[in-house]
Amino acid sequence: MLYEHHFESAQTLHEALYRHCYAALSDDLAQQERVSMLLSGGSTPLPLYRMLATAALPWQRITPALVDERWVPTDDPASNEGKIRACFADNSALQRNLVGMFVPDSSALAAEHQCHQNYAALPRPASFCLLGLGPDGHTASLFPNAEALAAAFTSAKPCLALQARSSVVTGPHLERMSLTLSGILASRQIILLFSGADKQRVYRQALSATNKLALPVAAVLQQTEVPVHVFYCP
Ligand code: 6PG
Repeated sequence: MLYEHHFESAQTLHEALYRHCYAALSDDLAQQERVSMLLSGGSTPLPLYRMLATAALPWQRITPALVDERWVPTDDPASNEGKIRACFADNSALQRNLVGMFVPDSSALAAEHQCHQNYAALPRPASFCLLGLGPDGHTASLFPNAEALAAAFTSAKPCLALQARSSVVTGPHLERMSLTLSGILASRQIILLFSGADKQRVYRQALSATNKLALPVAAVLQQTEVPVHVFYCP
C-alpha cells in the first residue's frame, strides 16, 4: 500500500511528519514495552529529528537506530550518526539509546557481524523506517549498481556492507553500511521523505521501473509487505 502526502512547504511537511511519527510511536508504546525507530542520514530529515527530540515521549523505552552509514568516524562532518546525535543533543535518553553502525578501526565489511548482532537485538518490527531518496534513485545506502546490491535485496540479514560506484551523488563516501531490504521491511511502516522536482521525477519513475538494480528505491516502492507513506514537497 502506498500513501502519498504532498505539502506546499518544507515547514508544513515537517509538522505533519512529526505528528505522523509521534502517533506511530505512541500507538506502539501503548501495546509494547520497548519500541524502535529506524532513521536515515542525509540532511532532509534533520528538522524532524530536532522536533522529535523535544517531544513528550517515554524515550527510555524507544531505541533509535541508523538506516545507513558512510564509513567515517562519528566526529567526521559526513557521519550520519554524528548529524543525528547533534539533533538529539538535549535528549540524553535518545543519545544513550541510539544504535549506530560505525565501528572504529574496522572496515564496513569486517563490522557486518557486529552490526547484525546490534540490529538483531532491536525491538522489531520498528515503529517506522524513515528513508531518504537520492537523485540517482538510491535509498538508505542502496546505490545504483553497487557491488553487493543484489545481495542487499535478497539477504535475510539486517545489514550489509556496500561499495557504491563513484558518482557526484556519493562524493568520496563509497564505503557504506546499510540496512538490507529485509532490514528495512522489518518495520510496521516505511516513510519515504524527499523534496524537489528532480527527486519527484525519480520517485514517479521508480513506481514502475523494472530494473531495480539501476533504481534501488523501486524495490522498496514495489514491495507489497509493508505500507509506504511518501512525504514530499516542492
Ligand atoms: C546517506 C543517506 C541517504 C539519504 C539520501 C537523501 O547517507 O547518504 O542516508 O540515503 O537519505 O541521500 O539525502 P538528503 O536528505 O541529504 O537529500
